[in-house]
Amino acid sequence: MAETERLVCDSAALADSGEGVRFEVEYLGEKTPAFAVRYEGRVHAYLNRCPHVPAELDWDPGRFFDMQGLLLLCSNHGAIFLPESGRCIGGPCKGRNLVALPVEERDGKVILKESGHGGRR
Ligand code: FES
Repeated sequence: MAETERLVCDSAALADSGEGVRFEVEYLGEKTPAFAVRYEGRVHAYLNRCPHVPAELDWDPGRFFDMQGLLLLCSNHGAIFLPESGRCIGGPCKGRNLVALPVEERDGKVILKESGHGGRR
């Protein structure tokens, strides 16, 4: 399978437990909002779509973390997710997961590897 890579943002744009960067991916044939955040030094990216209702999570554009910077928070009905796995640990979709996207950091850039999310769940 051919793999394409795409620049999401500069690494410096993602502070630990800070604001996320929003972007779009092609997912199941549709342009779908997504986001990247940094947590404990590592970058994680997910579709910006809550498993409860397919709505975007951020309570202001790019604001995904709770006040402590420890959990991702859905602004709609308060579901909380582990930043490192996207696992919901509280709220109406407890036990379900955000859809993770494959990203890596290289040469000060955050890169999305686009082969891994075109049609899988
Ligand atoms: S839409 Fe996220 S908790 Fe309901």
